[in-house]
Amino acid sequence: MKKIIDHENLSNKKVLLRLDLNVPLENGLIKDETRINKILPVIKFLLSKNSQIIIISHIGRPKGKINKDLSLKPICENLEKKINRKVKLIDDNIFKLTKNQVFQGSESQIIFLENIRFYKEEEKNDSSFAKKLAELADLFVNDAFSCSHRAHASISKITEFLPSYAGIQLDTEINALKKVTSEIKKPIACIIGGSKISTKIRVIKNLIPKFNYIVIVGGMANNILSYKGKQIGNSIKEDNCEKIINEIFESSKKYSCEIIYPLDVLVGKDMQSKSQKKEINDIKKNDMILDIGPKTIMKIQNIIDKSNTVLWNGPAGYFENPNFANGSFEIAKAIIKKNKSRSIYSVVGGGDTIALINKINSFDSFNFVSTAGGAFLEYLEGKELPGIKALN
Ligand code: 3PG
Repeated sequence: MKKIIDHENLSNKKVLLRLDLNVPLENGLIKDETRINKILPVIKFLLSKNSQIIIISHIGRPKGKINKDLSLKPICENLEKKINRKVKLIDDNIFKLTKNQVFQGSESQIIFLENIRFYKEEEKNDSSFAKKLAELADLFVNDAFSCSHRAHASISKITEFLPSYAGIQLDTEINALKKVTSEIKKPIACIIGGSKISTKIRVIKNLIPKFNYIVIVGGMANNILSYKGKQIGNSIKEDNCEKIINEIFESSKKYSCEIIYPLDVLVGKDMQSKSQKKEINDIKKNDMILDIGPKTIMKIQNIIDKSNTVLWNGPAGYFENPNFANGSFEIAKAIIKKNKSRSIYSVVGGGDTIALINKINSFDSFNFVSTAGGAFLEYLEGKELPGIKALN
């Protein structure tokens, strides 16, 4: 894998830079800036080399349609302030852009293209779209480790059309995760939560042989409860997961990996509600599970106590509403406590998990914080991620 920091002649080169600026947004306001802060080194490096930078990123899942709420404008403005330079957002159709046009009439050394997922071709890893993107630049840099599990045009296919390099943050993340996987000490607990059920549920089965405990919280836990025949009311759930859940439990027996899922929960009538504690068997049709309950928290604390390594990806509940943040905060506190006594190695990952630990000012209380969520889990599976494979 060639690294951009080793490139010797970047002056006046047009660099297509794929970043993951998929930050949590609420009414156009950025709720957590970590992913922006993490890419400042590559931007500053390219500026110092006098390159012209064309930034590509996605935000959210607009599924190939233009959605004004998912514009990169707020991120572009935020970056502008951080680096104290003019950054221009181009919302022209990429298919109509030409290489000469991109920087024409602009004093800016940095251009942002609008949300790349406004184009349906992106997620299809479309060849002509990747070729069109490639025509805008001289070389490609992937500094989006957290998207590298996606075989998308601006991550994977693009490398067929331009000389391609690893960015600074991508390289840091891979090295840190390589170290984690090679030096990992058992017993290992992996706590998996969040709302991206489809991305994560398929990964769990492959993690079972490697770990001693897998704790399932967040949206995925609802699928497990439903599989166990429990009422989950209006809670989020992914369809057609029974087969994979069955395989998870079968495989956990084979490899003696304990699967932990909620023993009790906090529910609301909607996401803005107050919370009500409920036993699993008391959940009603109009309830929405939005956090784990106290018995589950105690069980997880006990698992963390018994572990030498804890990997955590995805919040336990809808922590954006403080009424449902307790489960996630208690998990964070339990890990931090063991980290302070140096009796654990902890790795935390994912955009929402980072936002959560920033809320309690604990970013520096873990051994490593990865910007990646799904990519982090797929890396742990031992898979070569499509974005990394493409660079290799
Ligand atoms: C993430 O937040 O994990 C990355 O930005 C990838 O987003 P995705 O799950 O929508 O592909």
